[in-house]
Amino acid sequence: MNADPIVGRAVPRRDGPAKVSGAASFTAEVPVEGLAHAALVCSTVAAGEITGIDLTEARSAPGVVAVMTHHNAPAIRIAPLLITLRGASFTRAPVMQDARIRWNGQPVAIVVAETPEQADHAASLVRVGYAPAEGRLVFDDLKVGAPQPDHVQGEAPAVLRGDAEAALRTAAARVDQVYRTPWHTHCAIELHATTVAWHDERSLTMWDATQAVTHSQATLAEVFDLDPEDIRVVSQFVGGAFGNKMMWSHQILCAAAARLARRPVRLVLSRSDVFRVTGGRTRTEQRVALGARANGTLTALVHEATTTTGINDGFAEQCTFPARVLYGADSFGIDQRVVELHTPANSSMRAPGESVGSFALECALDELAEQLDVDPLDVRAGLEPAAHPTTGKPFSGRHLLEAYRLGAERFGWARRSSTPRSRRDGPWWIGHGVATATYPYTRMPGGRASVTLSADGCATVRTAAHEMGMGTATVQAQYAADHLGLPLDRVRFEYGDSRHPAAVPAGGSAQTVSIIASVVAAARALTAELLHLAAPDSPLAGAGAGADDVEMRDGGLHPRDGGPGESYAAILRRAGRAELAAEGAASPPTETAQHAMHSYGVQFCEVRVHDVTGEVRVSRWLGVFDTGRIINPRTAASQFRGAIVMGIGSALTEETIFDERTGRVLNASLAEYHVPVHADIPPIDVAWLGHPDPMAPMGGKGVGEVGMVGVAAAVANAVHNATGRRIRDLPITPDKVL
Ligand code: MOS
Repeated sequence: MNADPIVGRAVPRRDGPAKVSGAASFTAEVPVEGLAHAALVCSTVAAGEITGIDLTEARSAPGVVAVMTHHNAPAIRIAPLLITLRGASFTRAPVMQDARIRWNGQPVAIVVAETPEQADHAASLVRVGYAPAEGRLVFDDLKVGAPQPDHVQGEAPAVLRGDAEAALRTAAARVDQVYRTPWHTHCAIELHATTVAWHDERSLTMWDATQAVTHSQATLAEVFDLDPEDIRVVSQFVGGAFGNKMMWSHQILCAAAARLARRPVRLVLSRSDVFRVTGGRTRTEQRVALGARANGTLTALVHEATTTTGINDGFAEQCTFPARVLYGADSFGIDQRVVELHTPANSSMRAPGESVGSFALECALDELAEQLDVDPLDVRAGLEPAAHPTTGKPFSGRHLLEAYRLGAERFGWARRSSTPRSRRDGPWWIGHGVATATYPYTRMPGGRASVTLSADGCATVRTAAHEMGMGTATVQAQYAADHLGLPLDRVRFEYGDSRHPAAVPAGGSAQTVSIIASVVAAARALTAELLHLAAPDSPLAGAGAGADDVEMRDGGLHPRDGGPGESYAAILRRAGRAELAAEGAASPPTETAQHAMHSYGVQFCEVRVHDVTGEVRVSRWLGVFDTGRIINPRTAASQFRGAIVMGIGSALTEETIFDERTGRVLNASLAEYHVPVHADIPPIDVAWLGHPDPMAPMGGKGVGEVGMVGVAAAVANAVHNATGRRIRDLPITPDKVL
């Protein structure tokens, strides 16, 4: 350990200069000899069969190298799902293996040509005939009584404690409302892209914009029946992912087309492809019912939800999770249904479940507070449970009351008017809202890392992890420097390549602690190697030291009980070694077995709502977070702010519109699907408590996703405070406000 820790310092991002100077090569830019370019042809119906494909014109178009359809595609097995630990897929839909159409936008042909423009042009000349069938497209028809798919990923079992419905009927105060959130699409700046070069019939390299290098390697091995050792997946830079850059059909199709064309092939999805070929976030319909005593304590907490997923797919989007964790109640009725529609698969999108689930729960809390005429923050504080309310497990660390206090003071919450529609600045109504955030702590199993020391006293940490812009490369170098007792500039961190030791996917706000646990294991193995190498003529040998008797500090090993130590460089030099490497596997994540572990936060906002147009502007924001120890204040603050921006998008503008007659996405472009721009976002104040979690490696908990939770509810609650209008249906567009 470093006496003056590097963890906790606002170190600038290591990948920053390469990105802003253009030196960083993204997947769509990596130079590859003899490269050809691909374009997709996608279904224009949601269900049915392909009756014929006419390739005559496409094949004779300029520059065309190959065209692949289900007639000439190789055998491709079903991709393993993300939850299998060996998979990176959200869908079990076959990839170009039959004539069946499962959603509007399903790839039905892939065209390979010399240039991207030639591929796009030739794709436009592919003529596909369909025999359309009646699709399952109307959510309102299916949400009641529809059969449950038998393969839903991550579905949470129902929580039924006591008779919540009976308690509701006799409650002194009651809120019972339905909240709706629409489909969302991940709009990362970098389009999904992949570049594939086969080396022979059995081995390939894929450069991919992905958040799951190791799992993509395993997935490709499974679908093409190859040895994972013969597959290399490289993902050095990723321009945003938010949960969606996993394995979809386009990487598999690009690899198959490259084999068919006998050329390296690149496929960059168009923006409309991203909406149609990859999955987004499900729409939700959520009933939240709260029964309360006059003092605000809950006799009943009901949260029932319906979400959707595609045919052959299953990701539940557990929007009822916050209701299990946040508040104490005498009885609970929590359940979730999933319906299958002819749409793309539902995939995880930043804080899947919690972000949209908290909209319903946290708006309902606000409605209850209004009914009781109690400050909404006080209602929440009065519901703070002593232990996890639905499992009974003790919390590992939970400081929500402190976050409420600190946030209220910093935001000036006491100056809020509790009377809706009572503050005005010219044509703008002003309102303030609050909501709680939570997101589960996860440490995923299966991560490995290596540490290599070189004779010049530098260390290189390697793991196949991911840098999607959140600061992984920087915070891991900080952690490793402290753990190994080296200055930051002597530590390299290499990632984004399946040749490195296997890593967990970057998801679930779990990557940072998962990597740390594997670095701890690698450093321990390295310590043993160093002691072995140092004996018998080292000063360390006299200590009779085992790995537990020494510590890594000041660039070397030192006996814990004092005594002389030796630098890494000296040990290597005397042994005549240029370098020394050791690898380790993270310990099993047993910390969650006994404890309820979560990140928390509280969101405060001010909105201004235009009296004439109904336009909502967010004018002030504060998020206060309880996420354990913060490794790097600069990258953490950026994560929190980015998540809040995404939450503001979901609150005010974002909505993917499926035509329920055709299953077609109607607004598959950034011109019609509105994400916030700088002009929409006020200065965002973020703060954190920084109490290390006693059960988490290094005391750290996830910061990536909790920042989005509660945001839409805080905005909706502020809009109510400003205007007296309760909007229970996202996004809060002017037509709903007026
Ligand atoms: Mo996150 S949606 O788990 O990448």
